[in-house]
Amino acid sequence: MSRLALIGGTGLENLSLQDYDQETVQTPYGEVQVDLGRIGESKKTIVFMSRHGKTHATPPHLVNYRANIWALNELGVTQILATAAVGSLSTRYKLGDLVLVEQFLDFTKSRPQTFYEGGDSGVLHVDMTEPYCHSVQDDIRRAADKLGVALKDGATYVCTEGPRFETPAEIKAYQMLGGDLVGMTSVPEVVLAKELGMCYATIAMVTNEAAGIADHPLTHAEVLSSMKMMGKTVAMLVEETFQM
Ligand code: HPA
Repeated sequence: MSRLALIGGTGLENLSLQDYDQETVQTPYGEVQVDLGRIGESKKTIVFMSRHGKTHATPPHLVNYRANIWALNELGVTQILATAAVGSLSTRYKLGDLVLVEQFLDFTKSRPQTFYEGGDSGVLHVDMTEPYCHSVQDDIRRAADKLGVALKDGATYVCTEGPRFETPAEIKAYQMLGGDLVGMTSVPEVVLAKELGMCYATIAMVTNEAAGIADHPLTHAEVLSSMKMMGKTVAMLVEETFQM
């Protein structure tokens, strides 16, 4: 049987689950806390993990991505739905849009990217032709249709190291390379899930126009305030997806 997990990003640090239990999972990379419980009307028990911690204490470049994905695998998770706040570089994706991510461009700098470090752990060159999983994406699409929630797709996500926002010059360069959305967390999360054969999809939430496109400096407060507006819809969409 498939087991589902939600990795909640910025704005989705807490999720109300029924009959929930907290669990601590030991991994070779450190300890991870998760919640196990039922979401909405669903009878299925899902795993909920808050990427940045419940109080948003862990910045994107310090998230223990390997421990998180290892822990989900250890709990028998086969399908992961992740949420991510993003800025938009493209006229196609507007403030408030929910978007399925299709490809990524990786501009991270200091993050362990693999479980396969050579030696006893071996060497793996994982295929990234289709980084994001189409079967979870199909469930999200069907859930969105059922709820009448607008959902866009086909986006290329540029992953930056953070925690700073980008310069307008960087954003211009990313546009030239074909980037649509910019965020700080999808890599290496999606890569590590793929290495363990887990099906992983991201719902990106456009919280702002990227630096230099917006006519004002970016702040984390702007991202949070947009997230607040979208939070309920995203929670509904996640709930419906998990019932598919
Ligand atoms: N840049 C990087 N990460 C982000 C942004 C952004 O503009 N918005 C939300 N997360």
